[in-house]
Amino acid sequence: MSSPFQRLNTTQRRREFLERTIVRGLLIGGAAATSQSQLLGFWQQAEAQAAKPTATEVLGPFFKKGAPNAANLRVAGEPGFPLKISGRIMNTKGETVPGARVDLWHADYKGIYDVHGYRFRSKLAIESGTTYACDTIMPGHYPDRPPQHVHYLITAPGCKPLITQLYFATDPFFEGDPDKHYNKRGLVTHCYNIRHVTLLDENTKPHAAVTFDLILEKA
Ligand SMILES: [Fe+2]
Repeated sequence: MSSPFQRLNTTQRRREFLERTIVRGLLIGGAAATSQSQLLGFWQQAEAQAAKPTATEVLGPFFKKGAPNAANLRVAGEPGFPLKISGRIMNTKGETVPGARVDLWHADYKGIYDVHGYRFRSKLAIESGTTYACDTIMPGHYPDRPPQHVHYLITAPGCKPLITQLYFATDPFFEGDPDKHYNKRGLVTHCYNIRHVTLLDENTKPHAAVTFDLILEKA
């Protein structure tokens, strides 16, 4: 059986192919726009229905209540490579989950958590819509848990709380092959949580961008 990482990647590729095909008008027989939209809608619905909940991880010792609702954790002039993390929030049926709260926290570029204040800590309030986003920096490594990671705690009405972590496929910890090395030392249990990192540098200061969808279980 394929891993969630492999399965979702395949789904993403199929979806992207279908969307490109529709955009370019190459769909079989030049189907009418309404039919194309219906087909895409069907595909998206089928994809959503197949979604598995995001793999859980440990909360860790550095969680701290009371973080501000801050979508930008970067401070001008502060060291650390800029990073934008974003993704969709939904349940396993593909339904939106309004009212979600996304606590996220991570170490600074040296691998040190701020335990006195709220540097690199946010509790995003998602009042409407289905996505979250936060500008921050790439976290550093620290000895007890060396792979770079961002902690998450997500709550939403009608859903079970989700505790998880985001990892980076570019992290040297994974030796260039996350599929093969994701469970090195038993620290990362699900390959899906190791996400592809994109470098964005057009008309902006170079920064990394990572997409991490959060799929919640119904309560
Ligand atoms: Fe941590």
